[in-house]
Amino acid sequence: MTTVLITGGSGFIGSHLVRHFLDQTEFSIVNVDKLTYAAVTLPGEISDPDGRYAFEQTDICDSQAFRQVLAKHRPTAIMHLAAETHVDRSLDAPAQFFRTNIEGTFNVIEEATNYWKALPAGRAESFRLLVVSTDEVFGDLGTSGQFDEDSAYRPNSPYAASKAAGDHLARAWHRSLGLPVIVSHCSNNYGQRQTPDKLIPKVITNALRGKAIPIYGDGSQVRDWVWVEDHAKGLAAALARGRAGQHYLFGGGAEVSNLELARTICDRLDHHDPNPGFGQRRQLIKMVEDRPGHDQRYAIDWQKAAHELNWRPKVSMQTGLDNTIRWFLDNRHWWEPRLLYHDMDQRLGLTRTGPNQVETSSK
Ligand SMILES: NC(=O)c1ccc[n+]([C@@H]2O[C@H](COP(=O)([O-])OP(=O)(O)OC[C@H]3O[C@@H](n4cnc5c(N)ncnc54)[C@H](O)[C@@H]3O)[C@@H](O)[C@H]2O)c1
Repeated sequence: MTTVLITGGSGFIGSHLVRHFLDQTEFSIVNVDKLTYAAVTLPGEISDPDGRYAFEQTDICDSQAFRQVLAKHRPTAIMHLAAETHVDRSLDAPAQFFRTNIEGTFNVIEEATNYWKALPAGRAESFRLLVVSTDEVFGDLGTSGQFDEDSAYRPNSPYAASKAAGDHLARAWHRSLGLPVIVSHCSNNYGQRQTPDKLIPKVITNALRGKAIPIYGDGSQVRDWVWVEDHAKGLAAALARGRAGQHYLFGGGAEVSNLELARTICDRLDHHDPNPGFGQRRQLIKMVEDRPGHDQRYAIDWQKAAHELNWRPKVSMQTGLDNTIRWFLDNRHWWEPRLLYHDMDQRLGLTRTGPNQVETSSK
């Protein structure tokens, strides 16, 4: 029987990944999550009629606790998603990013190595650790070009730097100790149940409340958006067909500037929820001080994933956005209380930057 242990399975992407496996496979799933402010799915909210889901509230920074979870569940594979993920928060308070994304990832890699080395031969051969990273480790692009598996590491934010460190650990443990590890890099995800401090939910939830929609700088920064369920399928494909020691990139082929994206969301909301009482929602868009070190453009060449994993993004940005907007319209009870906690409704990332801030160069 296949048992996949997923760290961070209560987070935005992790909870879609857990649902993917429970719905589409017969695998047993063990979710190891500390339940930080970013957890969007609580243990009781997973439908598990045939008893294939187990939850362990565990901090990956606690190596002994993580070791005990491995010994208890004996997974056939590990997918490591647990992380601190909000770039602005990493500018204000990087220490927790260091702990979780570097020290925590070290624990996952080190404990996975000891666990894998003690497995019987057949099981050791098929064991995989998938480390889920981000395209942000490659820095940013100018107006042309795409990231691929050979792109140089040039992280520009504390978040990206901490993720890059985790990737380097994975590389070293593969090269020196033979750990069968795969690293994946995805561009920005969007979809249902994303916390309202991330760009798309922030635009939607502010637009629904008639509140100013803050867009950083001149709004020209371009992101390549991926429907979160497409990413989950890519991760499952990497686990099933990926080669140990390899990196795979996932992208949506849906490049759009932040300003254009905010305008589109406002227009789609006017369509789905007309006459809110405060006029057209585009008028709520307000340009605000830029994010320090803001990456200009991300774009992904996902041909390696297409050829080796038989993966490609399936959901168009138009369909995905409409689906996401409808979900936020129908689930106010989910996101409204969340706005009250953890500065979800506040501008973050400016507390420690000032006039001496150095311009970062793009590639
Ligand atoms: N969201 C994106 O657009 C995106 C894009 C590319 C890659 N990624 C990567 O994918 C992974 C998941 O991202 P996400 O957006 O779902 O994150 P998220 O912030 O929504 O969720 C993170 C989850 O990790 C858990 N967690 C945090 N610290 C932990 C710890 N010390 N021990 C155990 N659990 C802990 C949280 O409780 C939460 O459930 C991350 O590694 C992230 O770097 C995200």
